[in-house]
Amino acid sequence: MPVQVLEHPLGRHLLTTLRDRSTPPDRFRRHAHTLGTLLALESTRTAALKDAAIETPLEPIISPILARPLAIVPILRAGLSLLEPFLELFPSVAVGYVGLERDHATAVASSYYCKLPDLAERTCLCLDPMLATGGSAVQAIQLMKDAGAEDPIMVCVVAAPEGIARLEEAHPGTLIVTASVDRGLNDKSYILPGLGDYGDRLYAT
Ligand code: PRP
Ligand code: URA
Repeated sequence: MPVQVLEHPLGRHLLTTLRDRSTPPDRFRRHAHTLGTLLALESTRTAALKDAAIETPLEPIISPILARPLAIVPILRAGLSLLEPFLELFPSVAVGYVGLERDHATAVASSYYCKLPDLAERTCLCLDPMLATGGSAVQAIQLMKDAGAEDPIMVCVVAAPEGIARLEEAHPGTLIVTASVDRGLNDKSYILPGLGDYGDRLYAT
């Protein structure tokens, strides 16, 4: 399973703030947003380019532009924290939504919403800060493939080895871009050391 870990020192600093239980919701949101910007850059660093013929004020040149349009699919709710950073960097990106919620007792995710554009011929990224058991990511990636996505990339803040393995089993070769690979899951399928319930901390619920 290809896993690309964000190595930027600012990313590590921001993640520490998110992990800290004393970080209040307003700071959590701001730091999640900035970390989202770093992850948006990291996850698109291999995006294909093509040549475009343009004219500078001084002469014509051939210069690179992005070869394929982008599409992003945040998983509701917590994935919304990564949406704005992508929109700021890629304003014309197409956006689809998948709503998934884990059952608190079983940690099994069930779908309550899905609205996806045609994802064929696009560079597609699935956004969800937490890859825990991997159940949500596996479902979302399947929905994206059903909508035409080829080789969607999974973008998260924290990934557990269990979720990485499950995603590899269901969708072999999926690239995971993350700010951290953590130790593992506890008996309630929360990530250790992790940062708690991302959606609850983001939305102060
Ligand atoms: C969280 C998180 C992921 C999912 C990861 O969502 O945002 O979507 O759990 O867990 P998994 O890898 O075991 O599937 P949650 O179900 O808590 O919903 P929320 O985002 O609405 O809070
Ligand atoms: N979802 C979260 O928000 N946190 C975890 O640790 C696991 C799933």
